[in-house]
Amino acid sequence: MLRASSFLLGIVATIVVLVVGGFLYLRLGLMNPRADAPVNPIEEAVLGPAMDAAVSRHALPLVNPLPPSGATLASGMQLYQQHCALCHGDPAHQNAILAQSLYPRPPQFLSQAPDMPEAENFFIVAYGIRNTGMPAWGTALNSQQRWQIVTFLTHMGNLDPALTTRWQNLAQAPPNS
Ligand code: HEC
Repeated sequence: MLRASSFLLGIVATIVVLVVGGFLYLRLGLMNPRADAPVNPIEEAVLGPAMDAAVSRHALPLVNPLPPSGATLASGMQLYQQHCALCHGDPAHQNAILAQSLYPRPPQFLSQAPDMPEAENFFIVAYGIRNTGMPAWGTALNSQQRWQIVTFLTHMGNLDPALTTRWQNLAQAPPNS
């Protein structure tokens, strides 16, 4: 009986130490606030799957209303280049200009394909991901534009030669040209 209760006491004491220790770590300012700090693998291992699970739970099971036609992909490409390439990369910047500038780091889509279901990508583009640099585009882009980008994300690794050349040219063009 005594053993069981001291075991329980041990568990409670450990939890209290962890909670108080975590609170002090944060409130005493011991956490590195820099966005370009080296990524902590434990934090990444805990928060990455948590984000995936949360998106898959919250995303509505929407079906992409657009066909992956040349016109849809060209529009999606243009929008991607304008709004996303700075963080997620393009053929001229396989490592995006801001690839190392955010915490967590933005995935680089030319090497890590955005291969989640389209309904989940649509959710992320519309609502963003909190506590990260991923913005919500719901007010900046209308639903049709968001689906165009999502269609482009699905096919960006598999474009026909004409669209590939077009993307290379767009990626090399100076901003706002
Ligand atoms: C200011 C930088 C920034 C911009 C601009 C940006 N993103 Fe992101 N994005 C991020 C970051 C950072 C993450 C990673 C969040 C995380 O790890 O949970 C992310 C994650 C994502 C994801 C989830 C990928 C995955 O595999 O988990 C998708 C999809 C995405 N972004 C699409 C877009 C699209 C499309 C655009 C343009 C409309 C865009 N992003 C613009 C920073 C950005």
